[in-house]
Amino acid sequence: MEKKFENLPEHIAIIMDGNGRWAKQRGLKRTEGHKVGAEVFRNICQYCSDIGIKYVTFYAFSTENWKRSKMEVTAIMNLLRKYLDEMQERYLENEEAGYHIRFIGSREGMPKDIVKLMDSVEEKSDDKKKTYINIAVNYGGRDEIVHSVKALAKKVKEGTLNPDDITEDMISDGLYTAGQPDPDLIIRPSGEYRLSNYLLWQSAYSEIYIDDVLWPDYTPADLDRAIEEYGRRNRRFGGV
Ligand code: IPE
Ligand code: IPE
Ligand code: MG
Repeated sequence: MEKKFENLPEHIAIIMDGNGRWAKQRGLKRTEGHKVGAEVFRNICQYCSDIGIKYVTFYAFSTENWKRSKMEVTAIMNLLRKYLDEMQERYLENEEAGYHIRFIGSREGMPKDIVKLMDSVEEKSDDKKKTYINIAVNYGGRDEIVHSVKALAKKVKEGTLNPDDITEDMISDGLYTAGQPDPDLIIRPSGEYRLSNYLLWQSAYSEIYIDDVLWPDYTPADLDRAIEEYGRRNRRFGGV
């Protein structure tokens, strides 16, 4: 694909929000919205890869989303299972996934078979693909920071780390996104002006773009608009 944008973000993070409202507007069950949302996720992954985005991080399920009805949580887990099975299938047929897939979030509390599939898909997708897809599942920004800090506290207790030597980089290196650049652009469809515990540490200097479109209606043209707007932003990082 020819070069489409002057200023392409290296890392885009997307909050896939609005599935429930989309379904409600159509008199459907919330789970129907999740189903369509999962298809949109596949399309947007492909599009991001086509236009040459290096890292894309999708928010699929938060540490707070367990509060939802058992039926809804089960439906979301089943969609995730289906996606993982599909990926697994592609590898078995020796096809490439097309991306380098990584799951960010806590594996604790997740169904065991899903954790197994996640590990396997991550391991097998470890090829030389140009696009990294991070999928945030059972992810919470605060939970992630606690996870990183706990690892440092252990080192302090063992006597291998002096508390005065703790740096920002050490905390970054203990996050699920270790080794990846911070998101340049965070997109939230569905019109909510909040981060909802997403990438709290990594978003320090991210540009935020809120869109009214609900996630199941989200198209590559919507992403284009966000990237164009990003290109017009003046990022200063505290400088002048
Ligand atoms: C996002 O859509 C999907 C998840 C949080 C799993 P929602 O389910 O939050 O949709 P709304 O916000 O209720 O419309
Ligand atoms: C954020 O959306 C989580 C995901 C999209 C996975 P929510 O719908 O859970 O966020 P709130 O509750 O509106 O803040
Ligand atoms: Mg929501």
